[in-house]
Order: sequence, then structure tokens, then C-alpha cells
Amino acid sequence: MPRARGSKHPADGLPRRRVAAIQRRLLRWYAAHRRRLPWRRARPDPYRVWVAEIMLQQTQISTVIPYYERFVARFCNVAALAAADEEEVLALWSGLGYYSRARSLLRSARLLIERHDGRLPRQRDLLESLPGIGRYTAGAILSIAFSQPEPAVDGNVRRVLTRLMLTKQKPVQRSRCQRTAAGRPRRAGAPAPGAGRFSEPTAAELEVRARDLVSSVPPADFNQAIMELGALVCRPSAPLCATCPLSRVCEARRLGVQEQVPSPRKQPATVRQSRAVALIHNNGRVLVERAFSPGTPRGLWDLPGTLIPENSEPRRHLERHLRSQGLGTRVGARLACVEHGITFRRIRCTAYETVLDGSALSESPAAGRPARRWVERSHLRSLPMGSAARRLLASCRRPI
Ligand code: ADE
Repeated sequence: MPRARGSKHPADGLPRRRVAAIQRRLLRWYAAHRRRLPWRRARPDPYRVWVAEIMLQQTQISTVIPYYERFVARFCNVAALAAADEEEVLALWSGLGYYSRARSLLRSARLLIERHDGRLPRQRDLLESLPGIGRYTAGAILSIAFSQPEPAVDGNVRRVLTRLMLTKQKPVQRSRCQRTAAGRPRRAGAPAPGAGRFSEPTAAELEVRARDLVSSVPPADFNQAIMELGALVCRPSAPLCATCPLSRVCEARRLGVQEQVPSPRKQPATVRQSRAVALIHNNGRVLVERAFSPGTPRGLWDLPGTLIPENSEPRRHLERHLRSQGLGTRVGARLACVEHGITFRRIRCTAYETVLDGSALSESPAAGRPARRWVERSHLRSLPMGSAARRLLASCRRPI
């Protein structure tokens, strides 16, 4: 039976006309502005969608594309990935960061072969039981690969929906002891609840609204349209409201507060650290060790090195560290320096020309010491290695 104009959506009370206007405007905009991305195909391959979504977790599209292309060229389906060596998977991931994603992808591929005939399941609970797949990623795979009307709320979508659906906070009747929203008395001087005067939807509300919006439209297009709008137009700062297809139905824009919402999430303070590494070479080969230092992901190879405590002389500290690890060396000239970030840490990493003092070097690891290996320069590319070590080696590319 047709619904009356202005009737509510059954699930959460959003007016149907508003839902329909958002869907129509967004899909029309997406048809004209969608980027051509290698995993966006007329007939999407679930394996490729999965790989792309894992790579896109916490990483920008422009960074992901070359990694994605190399990865799916080498491992073209679940079976090829499941049969891979972890070292090779990590080598292809080297430089992309968050290496636990690569390990989870490999473990999941093996589970898919064992339990699901090598195919990605179409049920949310089964997808979410695989390593590395959370609520967002399951929703993205279900909607993009299997055309299921499932919400996929990532950071971009959260921002678009929060701005669209913002509500003005009702004036709170305060008692004399100034109760908080949760009913506890508030400390004197603490900020008023909802200091921004607006109520932002909770994660659960966003999910309900995203589910309403993706129903009765092509789910793959709709979810990618809203992600795309968040990335290109509804940006965190300086959103391009003048060209936004949703500006006429956007509450934050109507209230003129689009730059203030969503309120930023509290980030941990950045910690700055220094690390010194040794470039030790011999007949065109470089000495590398399998990292187990804090700040270097498990399983990657790295140049031998250590964090430098404040007020320590880096060369002497590096020499002492290497000696404690069974490597007698003389640390010489500073060769190159790079900065890199790992979550909330910024690490300044300096490479020093270093020579072994002549003692024999054993490649087999002694207890408590990292595995070591001499590697031909030309083979370094095929070794899983973090981006700091790669960039340092690229900066020291003189003949050795
Ligand atoms: N971010 C994460 N997944 C995406 C996708 N499929 N399209 C655009 N942006 C994304």
C-alpha cells in the first residue's frame, strides 16, 4: 500500500521522503563523479573486494592502488593466497604498514579453504569470524561483492551521516546540583554535556540510519557513493558544500556547523623517538636482522639497530647495543635519516656506516637474539621490510 507523504521510515523514524531524496541525489552524483578504481568492476570479484577493503583500512586509496595491483597480480584468488609463504605476502605488503592486516589476510585465506570451499561466505557472522574482518569490512564486502543491503560505516560515512542527521540538542532542565546526562552529579568546572549544543548520532544510530539508506537502492553503488562523497566532498575540514549534492538536505549545513561536527575523537599525544641503525655491508651484501624491537612489526626484516634514549650519544649507544647482541662493530659516518609514523609515534631513524670488527658472524640466532642474514642488494626488494629501512637503503644507494 502506498505510504502517505512524509510518513516515517519503519526502522528509525527518518521521513521516507528525506531518505528517498538522499538516495536519489547521492546516486546521481556518484554516477557522474565516481573514480575508476581497480576493484570497482561491473561484476565484482569477492576476493578482490576483500583484498581492497583490507588494504583500505587506515590507508588512503592513492597509496593502496599500486600495492593492490601487485598483490592481486601475484595472488589472483583465495587458493593462490592460501598456498603462499608468509614471507612473500609480507614482502608484497612492505611499505603499506599495519602488517597484521597481511597476516590476517593469509590466515583467513587458509580458513576459507578449510571451511568454506575457498569462497567468501555471504553471511555477516561468518565473515566477521574471519581474522581482520570487523563490522565495517563485513558490510563493505556484503554490499559491494554480494549486493546485500548491509550498512558499511567507516570514518568517511560516519562524517557524512553525522552532518546529515545532526539534531539540535533540546534545552536541558538543570537541577541545582547540575546532573550529567547519565544522572551523576557533575564536577564544578567540567564542560556541560553536549557542549557543542548538538546531538551527534551514536555508532548504533548511525548503523540504523545507514541500513535505512542502503535499502531499496543498489547497495554496492550506494555504499561506495557515500564513501566517495566523504572522501572527495564532505571532507573533515573545509568541506565543499557548494558542490555537495546533499547540501540542501544537510542539517549541519543548515545550522552552519559543518566544520564543527563530528567532534574530533581524542587522539593520544604523539610520542617522538629516535632510532639508530647500522648499515653493515660486505661484497655487495647488506646485513639484516629479523626485527623484534618495539616499533618494528613482527616478521619483517630490518637493519640492525635500536631506539636511542634521550641524551645518549647515538653512535656509542648503537655500538653498545650491537655488542650486547653479539656484533662487535665500529659505527662511523651518518649516512641518511628518515622520519616515519607508527600509530601515535613519530620515529626519526638514522643510518650509520658501520664496520664489523672482524669477529665471525653467525647467521643462526642465539637465544634471545634476532635472526640475521646477509642479503644481496638486488634481493632486498623481495624481502619483507618496513618502509623506514627501505627508504634508508634507497637514500644510501651508492656502490658498496
Ligand atoms: N574506502 C574503503 N572502501 C572503499 C571503497 N570501496 N570505495 C571508496 N572508498 C573506500
